[in-house]
Amino acid sequence: MARPVAKRILVLHGPNLNLLGTREPAVYGRTTLRELDRRIQRHAAARGVEAVCRQSNHEGQLIDWIQSAGREGFGAIVMNPGALTHYSMGLRDAVSAVPVPVVEVHLSNIHAREEFRRHSVIAAVAQGQISGFGPASYLLGLDAALEAATGRPARRAR
Ligand code: DQA
Repeated sequence: MARPVAKRILVLHGPNLNLLGTREPAVYGRTTLRELDRRIQRHAAARGVEAVCRQSNHEGQLIDWIQSAGREGFGAIVMNPGALTHYSMGLRDAVSAVPVPVVEVHLSNIHAREEFRRHSVIAAVAQGQISGFGPASYLLGLDAALEAATGRPARRAR
C-alpha cells in the first residue's frame, strides 16, 4: 500500500548557500537563495505540496532540523549539505537515524570537480543524489522526494 501523500517537504541548504548569486557565479550561477526558494516553492505548489526552505551555516542546526522533520510533519527532505557533504559524519548519522527519506542535491556536478568534492559521506544513507543541474537539481530532488514519500511519481496538480 502506498504511504500517505506528503503535504510538506523540508528543503535544507547548508553552509555558504546563503551567498548564492554572488558566490563563484561561474560554478553556482547568478540565482540568489531567495529566488531559488521561490522556484522550489512554486514547483511544490504546482504539485499540491508545501516546500519549507531553511538555510544554515551550522552543522548542529541542520542536524536538529533533520531530527525534528518527522515531528514537524515533513514527508521527505531535500538537502544540499554544501561542503558538509564531504566530511560530516554527524550529518550522515542524522540522515541514517531518521525514517524520513532524504534526497541529496548539488547545484554543481560534484563528480566533475576537485578530488575532495567527488566523495559524499551522505550519499550512502540518502535515498539518492542529484548533482549538476543548477537550480533544477532542487526541482528534480523535490520530485524524487515526493516519489520517495508517497511511493508514487510526482505529478502536477490539476
Ligand atoms: C555544493 C558542492 C559542494 O562541494 C560545495 O561545498 C557547496 C555547494 C553544490 O551545490 O554544488 O557548497 O553542494
